[in-house]
Amino acid sequence: MIVLGIETSCDECSAAVVEDGRIIRSNLIATQIELHKPYQGVVPELASRLHTEWIAQVVQSAIKNAGIDKRDIDAVAFTNRPGLLGSLLVGVNFAKSFAETLGIPYIGIDHIRAHLYAPQIENPMEYPYLGVLVSGGHTVISKVTGYDDVEVLGTTIDDAIGEAFDKVAKFYDLGYPGGVVIDRMSKTGDALAFNFPGPSMDREKHPYDMSYSGLKTAVINQRERFLVEGHEDTKENIAASFQRQAVNILMRRVEKALEDTGLKRVSAGGGVAANSLLRKELKDLEKGGYQVTFPSLKLCTDNGAMVAGLAFMYLKDGKRDDDNVTAYARVKAFKSF
Ligand code: KG4
Ligand code: ZN
Repeated sequence: MIVLGIETSCDECSAAVVEDGRIIRSNLIATQIELHKPYQGVVPELASRLHTEWIAQVVQSAIKNAGIDKRDIDAVAFTNRPGLLGSLLVGVNFAKSFAETLGIPYIGIDHIRAHLYAPQIENPMEYPYLGVLVSGGHTVISKVTGYDDVEVLGTTIDDAIGEAFDKVAKFYDLGYPGGVVIDRMSKTGDALAFNFPGPSMDREKHPYDMSYSGLKTAVINQRERFLVEGHEDTKENIAASFQRQAVNILMRRVEKALEDTGLKRVSAGGGVAANSLLRKELKDLEKGGYQVTFPSLKLCTDNGAMVAGLAFMYLKDGKRDDDNVTAYARVKAFKSF
């Protein structure tokens, strides 16, 4: 089955052709980074306008790069929730009319689930596993027992982890997109220069929840307070010290969740899963006998392949949407199909 996957929930205009949910024939990602750079953040109106201008060309190129004809496509999948409403609508409407014209089925896909599913495309892992979703909008630790079976164990109670990276980078004018720049700058920074606040005390009721606003506020507003004597106050050191604790907050919760659930497998996805320190620390879990997967860098951030990959699972089970399917900016976490 050949599925065309379309992703326009934020600032990436992406289309991919995936065969049988596993073989990525093409995965084109047209990024709007340059457009949003001057604002150091995504401007929703600009994002949707650019999606409108680009979508037809991106889809056409994805089909061409896959070496197929549009009549070879068996179904169309598109991200329809959650995300920027105007941007989502561009993808949803384009996909629906494209599929209607060809007379093939179509299906709206949850962006968060698609991120969680992404590692399964390249390195399929047996269920159940601990699913870690870390992106600009979400930070979720979950127990995944099937492609559509996700139990949320913990989330951030305030900022998402990627949002914290982006806000720190914006405040110190480090560059855009924030997470990528902080990751790069940290490589030459001293991660012990600042002793920024790490994981808070375990919460009895919500032991896997995380908070990032305390760390973010400390880094932005009170960095002098946390500078360790004898260490230098440089941007690289701020970046590295922040990154150390941002990853630490997540990893401590991941470790606790693994311990309590007895799960032996971990799979991470989302833009922040591209972070080199996080990848290293997750990988280190293998020393404790855990099996660990995360996507290649291209499948961490927003892309059409993860949408087509997850859609294949639903479609194979006979699920599809009808003309009433539309875009939703927000959804209740992990609404099932
Ligand atoms: O998954 P994604 O492309 O979009 C959302 O669904 O949010 O994730 C984007 C987020 C941004 O916050 C970006 O700064 C972060 O992922 N990110 C990173 C890295 N690459 C992207 N954060 C830390 N280290 C990275 N290498
Ligand atoms: Zn995303």
